[in-house]
Amino acid sequence: MPRRILVTSALPYANGPIHLGHMVEYIQTDVWARFQRMRGNETYYVCADDAHGTPIMLRAQNEGITPEELITRIGNEHRADFADFLIGFDHYHVTHSEENRELAEQVYLALREGGHIAVRTIRQAYDPVKAMFLPDRFIKGECPKCGAADQYGDSCESCGATYSPTDLKNPKSALSGATPVERESEHYFFKLGDFEGVLKAWLQSGAVQSEIAAKMNEWFESGLQDWDISRDAPYFGFAIPDAPGKYFYVWLDAPIGYMASFKALCQLLGRDFNAFWGKDSTTELWHFIGKDIAYFHTLFWPAMLSGAGLRLPTTVRTHGFLTVNGQKMSKSRGTFIMARSFLNHLNPEALRYYFAAKLNGSVEDIDLNLEDFMLRVNSDMVGKVVNLASRTAGFIGKLFDGKLANELHDPALYHEFVAAGDAIAAAYEASDTARAMREIMLLADKANQYIDQHKPWKLAREEGREEEVKAICTQGLNLFRVLMTYLKPVLPSMAKRVEAFLHFGELDWNSPHQLMIQHVIQPFEPLMTRIEKDRIDAMIEENKGTLPPSIPPTSGGQVTSAEAAAPVAEAKPVIEPGNIEPMGETINIDDFSKLDLRIARIVKARHVEGADKLLQLTLDIGSETRNVFAGIKSAYRPEDLEGRLTVMVANLAPRKMKFGLSEGMVLAASGAGAPGLFILAPDDGAQPGMRVK
Ligand code: MSP
Ligand code: ZN
Repeated sequence: MPRRILVTSALPYANGPIHLGHMVEYIQTDVWARFQRMRGNETYYVCADDAHGTPIMLRAQNEGITPEELITRIGNEHRADFADFLIGFDHYHVTHSEENRELAEQVYLALREGGHIAVRTIRQAYDPVKAMFLPDRFIKGECPKCGAADQYGDSCESCGATYSPTDLKNPKSALSGATPVERESEHYFFKLGDFEGVLKAWLQSGAVQSEIAAKMNEWFESGLQDWDISRDAPYFGFAIPDAPGKYFYVWLDAPIGYMASFKALCQLLGRDFNAFWGKDSTTELWHFIGKDIAYFHTLFWPAMLSGAGLRLPTTVRTHGFLTVNGQKMSKSRGTFIMARSFLNHLNPEALRYYFAAKLNGSVEDIDLNLEDFMLRVNSDMVGKVVNLASRTAGFIGKLFDGKLANELHDPALYHEFVAAGDAIAAAYEASDTARAMREIMLLADKANQYIDQHKPWKLAREEGREEEVKAICTQGLNLFRVLMTYLKPVLPSMAKRVEAFLHFGELDWNSPHQLMIQHVIQPFEPLMTRIEKDRIDAMIEENKGTLPPSIPPTSGGQVTSAEAAAPVAEAKPVIEPGNIEPMGETINIDDFSKLDLRIARIVKARHVEGADKLLQLTLDIGSETRNVFAGIKSAYRPEDLEGRLTVMVANLAPRKMKFGLSEGMVLAASGAGAPGLFILAPDDGAQPGMRVK
């Protein structure tokens, strides 16, 4: 009986681009799902964008667009990145969807019905300027332990201490710079402790790896706390039924997004949703996740499912974090590599192969060493696998019009290849693709040794030995076909091209049992080229320096009990607070009207002898001209400024400088983590002298 399997990867946040760290997970899951399909199992692989929460709301505000517009744009980017990395989702949805709203309400109401929701008043930091409660990550101040400045409200990056935001010295809102005040608010809690028995039984079922099982036992020992599942308006999320002004915390509806995505797929394909999610379901449910979100998937999520009368996951499979060249990914070193940037320079299947060769199904971190990546891909994929085809297919094409021999030259060797299939399948099943790739490369070595030993290129030059050449190359291509069968979950695009070239049907896990003889193949086309070092260098260069302020710092590192006790309460801010200038204090309209802002035409712009930063501007403001020294030399050439309109502060007290009198100031924007200075310009039609108000 084929298995029926629903597979998921964690839902990426819709607030920034996909990077190679993410790709570890999507590649690992996709390989597993493709393997299951090749085995003939009914497999559905679904995912979605995780669209809710404070960071997404704030980022949209910052860009001056609605959250819906933002998540649509980012969702499209994510889909394109995944498609180009050959991630074969059966459906990709978004958590801000009707299906998800309905399911989230349904799950919540079932939990409430079962008495698993508590309501309590809590005190929380509130930003009086922004008029909103502040997630821990949006409060900065001095570490209470070591005094380091500019630390987040949950932990110190300098000494590693964890604490609550109320412990910070001189706390400031990262959004407005205001000092937070404490405010009371009613919150909704999920009583996780009600499910301790359920979770312990689930753990016994072998649903998680041993490292995670150990973690769960620690969590049980330290006690299962109630989980705060509500957030106050303003929030981008789903309103909680019968609770005005309260929204589901993003992590409540995020995993329900797995169900919603599958529900949308069922509607498209006419499948039975309940057969997969009902309490007595005989199907399998597999979640692939990173170790930073194990707490959510091994405690809250199974408990929620149980409380809602639904089935529990068959397996939660957890992977570690990606380092690059042995270190945490870094923007300044250019190793915080965007998926799109990789695709701009390199072959996605090279990364799929490399990650597969590294991942062994454990929670250990994996390293992308770029030198090793290049050597390994060139040696294994090009040198061993592709080479096997290119050194045999040519003879069959040239000498025999593509026609293969009628029998194998070395049946025993072929059967050895077929027999290896079970062990390779077991490795894939366990996500120990490192072992699978190792076994496959051992076979590839054997196949190449076989060719080396029989030297068809030599025989081809001798008279009367054509049949031998044909038999040896037929053997080589049959071995190649078995290797490509085993590699197909990892290299789906190459496998497709090989299928076209061999012209002998689609490869599935049983294909090796069928010999490819008495058959005509198509002309051989190169399958893959070597990776050149300059491609890697160009990619690193592209990722260097300041990225758009949209990439949240990764929360890499070990799964520690500290993280466990206080799971990341919110996604980290999309705008790194360090990059934006805090808002100043509020002013009233009278304060504002003291400013005399005027449209000015830059009639002349000059370098200033002896000044590194300044340009001397002559500004026409209608009634008069002003001489102004502006610190914009790094961003503008004088000749490009002449004739342009800008905005100046006309009533700034004149200032005597080393170079002369400065009679005002031009306005320019800077900051937000991006380099550069940008002078302001009015819209078309504005005239010098007009007042800005
Ligand atoms: N939105 C949540 C998941 C909700 S699932 C109901 C989230 N999103 S994420 O975009 O931050 O991460 C998505 C997945 O990518 C997670 O499983 C995470 O562990 C994984 N990774 C993100 N950065 C990673 C590395 N640097 N290395 C390996 N995996 C990483 O968490
Ligand atoms: Zn500290």
